Amino acid sequence: MHTNSTFFLQTGHTQSPLLYLAPMEDITDPSFRFIAKEYGADVLITEFISSDELVANIARTSKKFTIFEHERPVGIQIYGHKKDAMVYAAQLVADANPDFIDINWGCPMKKIVKRFAGAGMLRNLPLMLEITEAVVKSVSIPVTVKTRLGWDENSIVIHQLTPQLQNTGIKALTVHARTREQLYSGNADWNHLRMLKENKSIQIPIIGNGDIIDEISAYNLLNYSKVDALMIGRASIGKPWIFKHIRHFLDTGTLLPAPDTKERVDLCIRHLQKAIEWKGEQRAVHEMRKQYLKYFKELPDFQSIKKLLVTEENPLHLIRTLQILAEMHDNFIYSA
Ligand SMILES: Cc1cc2nc3c(=O)[nH]c(=O)nc-3n(C[C@H](O)[C@H](O)[C@H](O)COP(=O)(O)O)c2cc1C
Repeated sequence: MHTNSTFFLQTGHTQSPLLYLAPMEDITDPSFRFIAKEYGADVLITEFISSDELVANIARTSKKFTIFEHERPVGIQIYGHKKDAMVYAAQLVADANPDFIDINWGCPMKKIVKRFAGAGMLRNLPLMLEITEAVVKSVSIPVTVKTRLGWDENSIVIHQLTPQLQNTGIKALTVHARTREQLYSGNADWNHLRMLKENKSIQIPIIGNGDIIDEISAYNLLNYSKVDALMIGRASIGKPWIFKHIRHFLDTGTLLPAPDTKERVDLCIRHLQKAIEWKGEQRAVHEMRKQYLKYFKELPDFQSIKKLLVTEENPLHLIRTLQILAEMHDNFIYSA
């Protein structure tokens, strides 16, 4: 475990900042985190974990905070709206020895915000600050926060909120540059990230998130806002090499070619095998089905082989089908 929180800024790279894999429910389980790490994600975070469900000792929820040595630095993300439950959850997950705990004050889902959890807490800042401070004080490892700009465009609170969050003792702040009302639509407004970095009273690292889709957008966000680190979510699904490609671009100014079919197939097979280790054969086979289209969507005649991939139950047959796909399309050139 890291004994201090400087890893939030240490890159091991001369020019470019840390690249975080965004926490994503039902996506960033250990199998996807393994693949993302292999392809250059510097910091991993679990999907969000309900503090209320941890209090209720629900086995399925407790499994979500399993982390592995190869993942470090890795954070466990918790959410909730009750101070006692959040403190309990923080202490419980701290025993799993993550490098940090991340508090989710940004989830926009209706069922979450209606109970003032996630982004719902953007409408109750005093309670957000009280819970954050209680969590910080309850554990000896670094605590970070991930949030949005505000509830809606008429209540952008991030500029007053960030210094207050800093005072609670958090070690870094991720800002998804959208409001709760935007959900995932419209554009992330990177102006706010830039304004946060221009505010000299803010010392904690700001991790910029929202709409990084490739090397160029990563460069643009970094260059425009000067955030300390970048977090990438949706663009990594079906394109986990995005981390390696962004790192390469930031370091050299040149673009790497998109992986060929063989590399994608090898990656899919490893992803499937890791998923089987994590959730068992049947669930892994079923949940991987949505991934294939993302990995191979550019292939001209993918529809016919897709049918085989999404109906096959036997992992060995699946692997064979994927290998045939690699043989059939060894010369295909992908754009991304
Ligand atoms: C399927 C999905 C699940 C998500 N789950 C979480 C989550 O568990 N915790 C969280 O903080 N954000 C979650 N998010 C939000 C992402 O972490 C990220 O903030 C958002 O997608 C914007 O970044 P992007 O433009 O790089 O995707 C989720 C997003 C998606 C698309």
